[in-house]
Amino acid sequence: MGAHRLGVQMTAPRYKWQPTTGEIAARYGLPEDQVVRFDHNTSPFSTDWAPSIVTPMARRLNEYPGASYLPLRMAAAKYLGTNAEHIVPGAGIDELILLIAKAFLGRGGRACAVTPTYPLYEIATRQLDADFVGIPRDPHDLSIPMEELLRTAETADVVWLCEPNNPTGDRTDDRALAEVIEHASGVVVIDAAYAEFAGDRWDRFVATYDNVIVCHTLSKAFGLAGLRVGFSLSSTSLADSLDAVRPPGSISSMSAEIAAAALSEPQRMERRVGRLLKERTRFAQGLTKLGLRVRPSSTNFLLVEVGPTAHVAADNLMASGLVVRAFDAAGPLGDRLRFTVRAPHENERLLDALWRQL
Ligand SMILES: Cc1ncc(COP(=O)(O)O)c(C=O)c1O
Repeated sequence: MGAHRLGVQMTAPRYKWQPTTGEIAARYGLPEDQVVRFDHNTSPFSTDWAPSIVTPMARRLNEYPGASYLPLRMAAAKYLGTNAEHIVPGAGIDELILLIAKAFLGRGGRACAVTPTYPLYEIATRQLDADFVGIPRDPHDLSIPMEELLRTAETADVVWLCEPNNPTGDRTDDRALAEVIEHASGVVVIDAAYAEFAGDRWDRFVATYDNVIVCHTLSKAFGLAGLRVGFSLSSTSLADSLDAVRPPGSISSMSAEIAAAALSEPQRMERRVGRLLKERTRFAQGLTKLGLRVRPSSTNFLLVEVGPTAHVAADNLMASGLVVRAFDAAGPLGDRLRFTVRAPHENERLLDALWRQL
């Protein structure tokens, strides 16, 4: 028998999926509603407003969604104060990352990112057989080595920037970002998944530079992670390059409709972000009172120094239904945990469990 080509997935890096809430509940013998996800940076607010929007359209699921997603693109454009031809929709920023890699990277290509950051940038790059250059932050203060970033950006086809960055929670100042964009020979992607928590949107970089793509999501501040909807803002020419590799219907009709409704009423999101930011301050104070060092955050999560027992603490918390994010024990964040800011009673449960453990 001849050798079969089984596909790049056999050797390319894969995304490491987290165990589901159902799996965790079954593993520790807990009721599912006792499991709280502090690891996904999602929203604690219910989406009880959404069913009324989808009920009429649930009767029309025999047809495909309109491939141009014009109503969704128009709602996103209005939200950002631009025109629909600058917007490309995707099934979350995750799909947009894969589309950007597909459009601008391939064998012999090169992309870079400051690490640690969102892992899909490296995975998407390497799945396309392109080289990924990780530029590590300073292991002590987690600052960005600017000179190395500028040097690398000069020869990269894609520079992945996460603003504010997951998992460090901080953002780069405008002067430094402009420098990176001006040094870059290729496309600069600003993943603005947490933008609304930072009170910024980075749109001005698209207005000034034609090599910038800013990615937005409905998963974080809008509290709609289950929908799987995101969108990019860029020049029409870069939008056209992404549209060329975009599948015709990766967002379901119902998701597109709910997302357009949410974008058309941003006040609901803004009120919720306001509540969450207050809770972030209260939660951070509670963690500090336990003697933990909390890194300042421009997001809906906190990166917290727990010490050498961070992994043990994460395992113990998970056994009681509190799922937090730990990092590679040998890496620069091995002694830290990342906590999503959730509802006050959920954060209290975590503070209480930490108090008993530490
Ligand atoms: C920086 C960053 N980008 C993208 C995503 C995924 O976003 P989406 O749900 O829109 O695919 C996440 C999710 O945690 C993230 O942290």
